Amino acid sequence: MPAAAPPAAPGDPHLEARRAYLNPGGMWMPMQMTLPGHAEAFGKLGVDIDPRKLADPLAAPLRAIVRLNSCSASFVSPDGLVVTNHHCVQTALQVNSTPERNLVEHGFLARSRADELPAGPAERVYVANAFTDVSATVREGLALIADPVARKEELEKRTKQQIAACEKGRSGVRCNVATYFRGDLYVLIEELEIRDVRLVYAPSRSIGNYGGEVDNWRWPRHTGDFAFYRAYVGKDGAPADRAADNVPYKPAHHLTVSTTGVRPHDFVMITGFPGRTTRTKTALEVKHDVDWFYPYYIELAKQRYAVAEAHLQAPGETAIKAGVLKQRTQNGLEKVSGVLAGLKRGDLLQRKALLDERTRAWAGQAGREAHVTAIAKLEQLIADEQKTARADYDRSHALGASSLLSAAFSATYWAHERQKPDAARRPGYQERDLKPAIASTKQMTKQFDATLDRALLQLALVRALALPPAERPWLPLLLGVRPARAGSIDETVIDKTLDAWYRETTLATESVRLALLQNGTRARMATSRDPFMRAVQRVWKLYKTEEERADARAGELLLVAPMYAAAMREALGGLLAPDANSTLRITYGTVKPRAPNEPSFTVASQIPNKDTGKDPFDAPKPLLDAVKAKQFGPYADTTGELPVNFLSDLDTTGGNSGSAVLDGRGALVGLNFDSTIEGVASDVVFDGTMVRKIHVDVRYMLWVMDKVDGADHLLEEMGVRPAL
Ligand code: ARG
Ligand code: ASP
Repeated sequence: MPAAAPPAAPGDPHLEARRAYLNPGGMWMPMQMTLPGHAEAFGKLGVDIDPRKLADPLAAPLRAIVRLNSCSASFVSPDGLVVTNHHCVQTALQVNSTPERNLVEHGFLARSRADELPAGPAERVYVANAFTDVSATVREGLALIADPVARKEELEKRTKQQIAACEKGRSGVRCNVATYFRGDLYVLIEELEIRDVRLVYAPSRSIGNYGGEVDNWRWPRHTGDFAFYRAYVGKDGAPADRAADNVPYKPAHHLTVSTTGVRPHDFVMITGFPGRTTRTKTALEVKHDVDWFYPYYIELAKQRYAVAEAHLQAPGETAIKAGVLKQRTQNGLEKVSGVLAGLKRGDLLQRKALLDERTRAWAGQAGREAHVTAIAKLEQLIADEQKTARADYDRSHALGASSLLSAAFSATYWAHERQKPDAARRPGYQERDLKPAIASTKQMTKQFDATLDRALLQLALVRALALPPAERPWLPLLLGVRPARAGSIDETVIDKTLDAWYRETTLATESVRLALLQNGTRARMATSRDPFMRAVQRVWKLYKTEEERADARAGELLLVAPMYAAAMREALGGLLAPDANSTLRITYGTVKPRAPNEPSFTVASQIPNKDTGKDPFDAPKPLLDAVKAKQFGPYADTTGELPVNFLSDLDTTGGNSGSAVLDGRGALVGLNFDSTIEGVASDVVFDGTMVRKIHVDVRYMLWVMDKVDGADHLLEEMGVRPAL
């Protein structure tokens, strides 16, 4: 076995503290970095920078961190070069692929800027400009509105006003009001929305997704999960539609790329956009997830996985798209199975119960009667929701299971909302939302597959048959079966109906969808002959009734749920980060192995042993040759090995992929791309002993670029001198 990593630097006065550090967790909002606990922790860990510097999103290093549609990324050059994960640019690779030129398989490298490829109609780079606490304005007097639907609408009206004022006269700026602590805090976020995004470089699948599904969520790992985009803007520097004479965006800051990386037990941090965690749920909510939701989701995901697998040999592009679906489904299935197993294995549920008790004890003190009442009401709302959870899940899942059905819903929704004044429309259907809706309609063209779409819809409809007819009144409506005959629906009826729908529909044609989306009127919806459009018109009334029921629930929750989250935060002395909500966060901790005597790093010399020559363990020959010859140049560690991936105890979740891993000086030392499955229950109850995140080492990235792919011009652009 090669030595796995160099020893930590001797004589470091903080090494012992870092080695012993047990991360308490926390995806901190930048504005929370001024809390005194962080300065204390940074001091103990021996970090030079002042954590308060991380409270300013307009200063380095946060200013260099950007958001993609569902990943994180960062600027690494003055010319808008963006680094993220290989798995985050899958769609960009897919939309540019042809059977003759399969970029998903072979990767891509633009030799000049003129060669860079459009990343797809829906890809965006968002650069945050401002964060403003608008809670007082948004929440004021809501409790005085007795009707829960009216209350929810008032809140929506206020957030729309904030957004409209923020975006007024500023094309290219996109604003959004994000909700934290279950509605205790509302923040207006202003972002520059860059919509000309181009693919610059992605290594081949056999480097970028080395290990594939087999290694996904696993350690040890040897994946080169990195890729590059470039952000382009108009000549005036403002975001613009894609155009030949657009110019690279000049970011206010870009990260310094480290060429020396980190060592075991070094301090590291990640700033990025974690998607969703559920740590401020009550114990009752978590119990319901464990008893019902996770198992139910797992069963469904297994069935969807089987659908994908059944089409891997299908003709045409179906097989390629089935492969993408299979990988995505496997990723979610394993994740949720891991969360469930983690919650059941250790004492996490017990810890959840204790935190819940502590929260209630805080609320139970004199003068906090309002909290007690609110928490009781919250529990009652949750219990009510759980009663119809399965019927609600089956319905929402089925109505969203097919892209064609979703397109028909979207067109119908737009037609209804379009008749209202812009400010009165439902969020998501205002004029500001039309461009994104068009982009996703176009994106669908590149990703749609009729065979898979039909199979997934069929699965969802057949699953709903297991409910008593009274709990699935939408099913006969959707299928066009008279309510009196609802009990007669069986698999054959579903099969025959779908055969006819997919034969007759015109919604697979982009221009048809675009016309309906952009100019659809209610009259046109009512007279459409398309089977999916007709199905949607039949369930529309029921759909809106269910929507109103959900709105009423949301209107009730928005008064009581914040009281629970706030009580939890106060019970913890203020040191509670809000649950992830795809907004900018900071997590810090250390490079840490799974167990004290295990390595924190993998090294390139291990790749030839692992390699089978077959997908997913089929590293390119030039890579294997260079590894065997140990041609690591300046990228080797002090023992002459090349670090590939490493582990930390950072607090991240889905959405954090592509996030820059930074050292104590804010330099880029790696990219986050995965978690170990044993620690994923931390999304529900953080556990610093189990949680481990997997990062690609910056030295491996630079080495692949230098030695294997010859991306010298990109290295130079990042300020790194090619050496091999
Ligand atoms: N598990 C990681 C995440 O949740 C990586 C997924 C991409 N890689 C893969 N082999 N599926 O997204
Ligand atoms: N792979 C995840 C992502 O894409 C990150 C994680 O779950 O660790 O966001």
